[in-house]
Amino acid sequence: MVGRICGTGAYAPPVFASNEDLENVVDTSDTWIRERTGIARRHIAVEDTAVTMAVKAARQALANGKIDPEAVELILVSTISPERVLPCTACEVQKQLGAVQAVCFDLNAACAGFLYAYNTAQAYIRSGMYKTVLVIGTEQLSKLVDWTDRNTCILFGDGAGAVVLTGEENGRYNMTAHSDGRKGEALTCRTDGKIKMDGREVFRFAVKSVPECIRELLEREQLLAEDIDYFVLHQANRRIVEAVTKRLNVPLERFPMNLEEYGNTSSASIPILLHEMKQKGILKPGMKLVFAGFGAGLSWGASLTEW
Ligand code: COA
Repeated sequence: MVGRICGTGAYAPPVFASNEDLENVVDTSDTWIRERTGIARRHIAVEDTAVTMAVKAARQALANGKIDPEAVELILVSTISPERVLPCTACEVQKQLGAVQAVCFDLNAACAGFLYAYNTAQAYIRSGMYKTVLVIGTEQLSKLVDWTDRNTCILFGDGAGAVVLTGEENGRYNMTAHSDGRKGEALTCRTDGKIKMDGREVFRFAVKSVPECIRELLEREQLLAEDIDYFVLHQANRRIVEAVTKRLNVPLERFPMNLEEYGNTSSASIPILLHEMKQKGILKPGMKLVFAGFGAGLSWGASLTEW
């Protein structure tokens, strides 16, 4: 059994902050932010929360996958910015969707969170325990950002993305995943505090570890980078994506990006991007996709999916 993605959804709150808006908040400039990150604006949840954004993305994913909420057996939510610690976000989403049969829990692997939740869903499906799984990444990072710290506040944004997986006999899937708690201090946030980051160290980690784990994945599947139709990377920074393309020697066109619009939405970034790719009609049956995530922990990994 393999989990095939049958539905996708995404939601970003209507209010956004442009780079020019941030010029009024910290000592920065649109040029600096664009050159160093590729980001032009980020959406900010004013009325929304991690729960409401997750519900909106999930409803869309279920509708476009033609899956009845009552058919969902497992809801996995990846988030580092829940509205409440208890109950978990997944249970709150379940209530609002009416997914009464589902088992629900949250997981936190920071910006690698969607990838880890996706892998968890695949493991359950592969074991035969569940066949229909909703995986959501949802983040209200604006409340974890220190709006006086120009090193971090320019990077992050709010939003949610969701996919529905159904177990099928045919299809391709494999994964690599890694964690290194020894380097955890590079990117931290206390439960009562704000995000703190050593930007250079995180940058170095990302440009080294992402190509390595993608190569590891390709070797496991005996594939070459040119066999992959699209690399769907966590959207942290344009320069990170560009460095990965160079190290893998793959043209940039095969690394879709939307971080200009959203900034870094942590565990929401991969499913939001995937949903946009689907809406644009660029995903065709049988295409091979590599998802790659990386972030605090440190945690990183890559997964191969057949569309
Ligand atoms: N506007 C203007 N100047 C800024 C700034 C901002 N928003 N943020 C930092 N600077 C300044 C610094 O204070 C520093 O000034 P100084 O030389 O006078 O001390 C200078 O710019 C260079 O800072 P540095 O941190 O070396 O910049 P950088 O080239 O490494 O770029 C990042 C900073 C954060 C964009 C880059 O390190 C990065 O992308 N890191 C990865 C971050 C990430 O993606 N994290 C999430 C992973 S999931």
